[in-house]
Amino acid sequence: MTDRYCVFGNPVGHSKSPAIHAAFAAQCRQDLSYEAILAPREGFADSVHAFIAAGGRGANVTVPFKEEAYRLATRLTARAERAGAVNTLVFGTDQMLGDNTDGAGLLRDLIDNLGRPIAGKRVLLLGAGGAARGVAGPLLDANPALLVIANRTAGKARDLARCLSGAAERRGCAYPELAGLSFDLVINATSASLGGVMLPLPAGVFASGSLAYDMMYGQQTTPFLTLAGNQGAAYLADGLGMLAEQAAEAFAVWRGVRPETALVIAWLRAATSGALVTR
Ligand code: ATR
Repeated sequence: MTDRYCVFGNPVGHSKSPAIHAAFAAQCRQDLSYEAILAPREGFADSVHAFIAAGGRGANVTVPFKEEAYRLATRLTARAERAGAVNTLVFGTDQMLGDNTDGAGLLRDLIDNLGRPIAGKRVLLLGAGGAARGVAGPLLDANPALLVIANRTAGKARDLARCLSGAAERRGCAYPELAGLSFDLVINATSASLGGVMLPLPAGVFASGSLAYDMMYGQQTTPFLTLAGNQGAAYLADGLGMLAEQAAEAFAVWRGVRPETALVIAWLRAATSGALVTR
């Protein structure tokens, strides 16, 4: 019987995950189906249990259910525990394992696909919400010279920096406190782009040769990448590579085989006019 997987979200109609996992399944010759399921905002747990009862083997979880999935899982991987959020569920006979592949997906895109090592670099993470929490720990593990987390609500950035374990130097601050600092890598993990808002980044934040990375993606260049280009970032990348890599990592968790992502990323990029710009 074909194994069933899905992504739960609300909204979820726009999700590229079904197409990505169909491509991975074909490439790895895995007999599985993958669908998008719109869970009611108050009905996530019920939707998950209904899917398990119908034979579901695993699921991805997207906005706004990652924290609820964290609470629903009966066992957590260390990286999900640390992120405080779950984007991948594995349904076993007597347990529900919660994992988080977002941080691994970001690192794989940055280091392997874009050729940008983190070790020894000055890294700025923008935002201190769920998306930032999922990637802050893995970024620190990659041993940057410095990790600064900046957020509109500075207290959240300071709390996040304080909670992280790891040896690398890190600190949280508000945007104006970035004045006079510059970074090799600037990652946008805020949702400000969704409202078309430009983050108030002081001039000089982008060091020469720096990469601006937006975890968001869209049909057009995101407001953050537009700002980064105007302020002198040398390279611009949106989150399509991370999207494919977090999916590949989830696929590997479920199926024990890791798909190649290059063709899927090229296809995602061709289907949008999203940014991957070398200047
Ligand atoms: P997500 O799960 O996408 O991270 P979230 O937990 O609601 O969503 O976090 C949203 C992030 O985007 C936060 O860092 C938020 O800043 P605050 O903590 O100060 O709210 C940031 N954000 C959202 N809209 C913003 C805006 N207009 N300007 C600056 N930051 C914004």
